[in-house]
Amino acid sequence: LQQRYTGEIAQAADLAALDALRVAALGKSGEITSLLKTLGKMDPETRKVEGPKIQSARQSVQDAIEARKDELEREALEARLATERQDLSLPVDTTPPGSVHPVSQVMDELAEIFADLGFAVAEGPEIEDDWHNFGALNIPEAHPARAMQDTFYVAAEGDEAPPVLRTHTSPVQIRTMMRDKPPIRIIAPGRVYRSDSDATHTPMFHQIEGLVIDKGIHLGHLKWTLETFLKAFFERDDVVLRLRPSYFPFTEPSAEVDVGWSEEKGRRVVGGSEGWMEVLGSGMVHPKVIENCGLDPNEWQGFAFGCGIDRLAMLKYGMDDLRAFFDGDLRWLKHYGFGM
Ligand code: PHE
Repeated sequence: LQQRYTGEIAQAADLAALDALRVAALGKSGEITSLLKTLGKMDPETRKVEGPKIQSARQSVQDAIEARKDELEREALEARLATERQDLSLPVDTTPPGSVHPVSQVMDELAEIFADLGFAVAEGPEIEDDWHNFGALNIPEAHPARAMQDTFYVAAEGDEAPPVLRTHTSPVQIRTMMRDKPPIRIIAPGRVYRSDSDATHTPMFHQIEGLVIDKGIHLGHLKWTLETFLKAFFERDDVVLRLRPSYFPFTEPSAEVDVGWSEEKGRRVVGGSEGWMEVLGSGMVHPKVIENCGLDPNEWQGFAFGCGIDRLAMLKYGMDDLRAFFDGDLRWLKHYGFGM
């Protein structure tokens, strides 16, 4: 009986078959259990002989069941591991990962440089009203910047001045001064729009505005800030600035700033043969603008600047056609190390 069971147990195909054998042998009315029950009716002599035999048979069957159970469970685990294994021969997804566009990269760099100088980042809407984009900035009705060929107007009802796509980031100056108490130190990077298109102009481009409002701010603060920023951005100490007197309705005095650096063998001179490249407009914030924002110009002074981000990127990475920035041509991005 014991041999028959151990033989069958070793052959049991699965856990269910094994359990059936266990019930047949060791269950309540199993064959071995029944044998054990007969012990009580035996005379002591026979019991002495038969008892240990039946007990050891019971033990052997039990051990055989345990052993087979372990075996079956291991087999089941191995089978599962085999089916769930990663198929390393599957082809991988070769879609290249995206990368950060040069303009976004430069914007991030600028935010970092100005963060070190204590400037916070401010934002404003790309669809602006006439007052923020022009009026509050002291731009008179007849100013050419308002003319149709420069400004994109948004269709509107009624006789009110229609909203515009902001033509510069300067309206963020107004929004910041209306909202925050001085001292103010902000930069405002973002998209701006002008109806213009050639190798150095696109209808949408990027500017970064800077604004500082505090007590006793003068032109020297502006010059130091611009110098520090441009040296950090171009990662060289021999950056030289040229401030040319200029005119903006919202700054007085105003200066346009050219950047260049001392010519050295093997080093690219920014701006080509002329040696100078115009990068930004700047000046001391006009008292009228400060007043328009509800601040007392006798108490608060400041400087502001507006800089073309795309142009900075072109200079830094040696690109010559602004339009290529917005074509999304992977070959161009790859050429400049931005595509993957
Ligand atoms: N908003 C001016 C422009 O777009 C630049 C500028 C900003 C000039 C701030 C002076 C001060 O040309």
